[in-house]
Amino acid sequence: MLLVKDEASMAHRLCSFMILIVVAAVTAHRSDAISAKQQPPSSFCTRAEASRQCANPPTVDADFNVEEYLGRWYEIGSTATFKLLSETGLICNQAFYSSSSGKLSLLNSGLTVISPLAAADVSAINFAGRGSCAAAREVCYQLPALVKLSQSKCNPALRRQLASSVKAAGLALHRLASDVSLIQQANGEINQANYPSGGRTLQSSVADIKKFTKEAEYQQDAIAQFAAELNKTRAKARKESAEIQNTLNSAALKVSQSSAAIEVGLNTMKVRAKSLLSTGQPINNGNVYSVPGTITQPNATSPAKLEVSIFTSRAPYWIIALEKAKDGAYSAALIYSCQQGVGKSLFVLSREPTMAMATLHGFLSKAESLGIYNDCEDPFLLTLQRGGTCGRPL
Ligand SMILES: *[C@@H]1O[C@H](CO)[C@@H](O)[C@H](O)[C@H]1NC(C)=O
Ligand SMILES: *[C@@H]1O[C@H](CO)[C@@H](O)[C@H](O)[C@H]1NC(C)=O
Repeated sequence: MLLVKDEASMAHRLCSFMILIVVAAVTAHRSDAISAKQQPPSSFCTRAEASRQCANPPTVDADFNVEEYLGRWYEIGSTATFKLLSETGLICNQAFYSSSSGKLSLLNSGLTVISPLAAADVSAINFAGRGSCAAAREVCYQLPALVKLSQSKCNPALRRQLASSVKAAGLALHRLASDVSLIQQANGEINQANYPSGGRTLQSSVADIKKFTKEAEYQQDAIAQFAAELNKTRAKARKESAEIQNTLNSAALKVSQSSAAIEVGLNTMKVRAKSLLSTGQPINNGNVYSVPGTITQPNATSPAKLEVSIFTSRAPYWIIALEKAKDGAYSAALIYSCQQGVGKSLFVLSREPTMAMATLHGFLSKAESLGIYNDCEDPFLLTLQRGGTCGRPL
């Protein structure tokens, strides 16, 4: 939930979420990103346009009873920015919600599995990915005006040139977003020291980050090429109207700047991935991180729009889907937290440490249908749960 901007406090950064654990059987799934498969494919730039603002999804207000929502919840997964910046290096994340004399409180916890140095590298990779993706979205925002220009009455050669370079740029941006998403998945494996099968190791996850960074660099080259083409188009457009020239000038400048910013992000990811080869070894010190907070229901007409406060940060906690067991008890929840200009996160909670894939896919499809996209820096990552106490004392 909480998107924590200030990273000064370790505890603050490490645990926004969950509480006490219970151990036992192994549900070791890879932290593969789960996508909402049922949705028709949309391009990165289409989603970028929709992501400019927080979505305003309906919450599950009808009959919502916060008393029934209290108790222990296991985190089944969360979007990468939340997991890699706010829950860095933790597995077995849980939340415990309780009520005392009318006040609601929370205790989030998780078990530490990587060192603080590795956690810093993991966070830095996510952060650099965020920078690259934000820059890529800036390029997306330039495209509609250029498409319009390519359909306008300006000279035909210029129009053709624009149309083809805009199309190529859209494709490069889409591929770049997929590469960064794959980087975050590999980063997510390292984050949870989760190398369950198929010969996965720290080295193979780092190798994946390098491989996808390299692929992303080809896409960044294509975007740099796009910037150069726009500059050539500007040179050819000297006889066009001032409006056309302005559109081209501002797009060329923005695309050039964004291309440079993407390059910076990719370089940072490479450097930090290399660092992880030495810092990223799993640790097994049994340390439990936990963090308390409070919950309020600030909206009288919308009881499922909760707000969570941890330390000095406050964040919305909107319950946008809720599943019930046969006896009517809440069994799974989909939470959305978005603050304009700060960021968004999405997470899935369950009363059990596992969840049926169909339920999870249903939740994620629902989020996507509401305009909540988990792409580029922010794929949905599964939380490693082991059930029981997760190997730590109760
Ligand atoms: C395009 O032109 C702008 C402004 O003159 C310049 O800052 C930028 O570096 C150029 N970009 C490329 C890729 O040549
Ligand atoms: C409370 O929720 C309702 C329904 O979603 C919404 O229309 C209203 O703006 C919200 N009020 C505040 C103060 O956020």
